[in-house]
Amino acid sequence: MSGFDLDAYLQERRRLVDVALDRFLPGEDTPPPAVHRAMRYSVLAGGKRLRPILVIAGAEVVGASPSTVMPTACAMEMIHTYSLIHDDLPAMDDDDYRRGRLTNHKVFGDAIAILAGDALLTYAFQLVAQNAALAGVDARVVCDVVAEIAQAAGTRGMVGGQVVDIESEGKTITPEQLEYIHVHKTAALLRASLTVGARLGGADAPALAAVADAGQSLGLAFQIVDDILDVEGSLETLGKTAGSDERKQKVTYPALHGIEASRREARGLIERTKSRLGVFGARSAPLCALADFVVERKS
Ligand code: IPE
Ligand code: IPE
Ligand code: MG
Ligand code: MG
Ligand code: MG
Repeated sequence: MSGFDLDAYLQERRRLVDVALDRFLPGEDTPPPAVHRAMRYSVLAGGKRLRPILVIAGAEVVGASPSTVMPTACAMEMIHTYSLIHDDLPAMDDDDYRRGRLTNHKVFGDAIAILAGDALLTYAFQLVAQNAALAGVDARVVCDVVAEIAQAAGTRGMVGGQVVDIESEGKTITPEQLEYIHVHKTAALLRASLTVGARLGGADAPALAAVADAGQSLGLAFQIVDDILDVEGSLETLGKTAGSDERKQKVTYPALHGIEASRREARGLIERTKSRLGVFGARSAPLCALADFVVERKS
């Protein structure tokens, strides 16, 4: 054990992120109120805040401060929340609960839920652009960050993975096809969170390669554990309905490989994550603790 106090680290970073999200999001009464209420409803419902914390940790691992990356950290949480709102729609996974409350479309209707998702995705890029105005941030680096986030969120990333996830419902797919789904629908945004944080923090090429590789294996482990929790968790612990994958006949890691092999694979990926972070020495402590948290979490 490293002796690193992850609970205190997470609590402090989550507080920073929650304050910034509340400040950046348009107020409930800003016209047109329906969409702003819907955006705030899902973003401010909580959640682990893993992606913004990875942006911050990516900056910190190369010696930069959280304040340098806050708009981009919030942008990643907005893109993630948009992906959840759309993922829960009747036309997709058709889920009723998220983050311990009714899903966005259950409260605001499908049309406003779709538009709230669209608005969060769009607003995210406005925030990344605003990051260029902060002291110590190079506008050319922000351009690279915009391109990297767009790629990770689009058809070569999250959207691409979601497409194949939906197309694979009820089908028999190979382990390679499942890996494609996990790499794209989930690992892409987690990996990009870490790399854009490091980029904005001034990482050089070897540091970027190390965090990219670490982010990829962390992201894969994260989705394997999400699949396991869908089997073993409950609405109370997860804040979303368990058993959703079986109901929708999703191909998941435990369905294809069994629970024990899934756990082994997730642990192996986390060991790989931590060994890639070794180059950062003592500065890697928060990220290594976060990596352990990803496999040990119960929600
Ligand atoms: C859920 O993500 C969707 C996946 C990519 C598996 P999280 O488990 O990070 O959801 P929140 O942000 O904590 O609600
Ligand atoms: C979703 O995967 C990944 C996204 C891009 C939202 P899941 O469909 O397994 O996520 P949950 O279990 O609903 O959170
Ligand atoms: Mg889904
Ligand atoms: Mg889902
Ligand atoms: Mg899931």
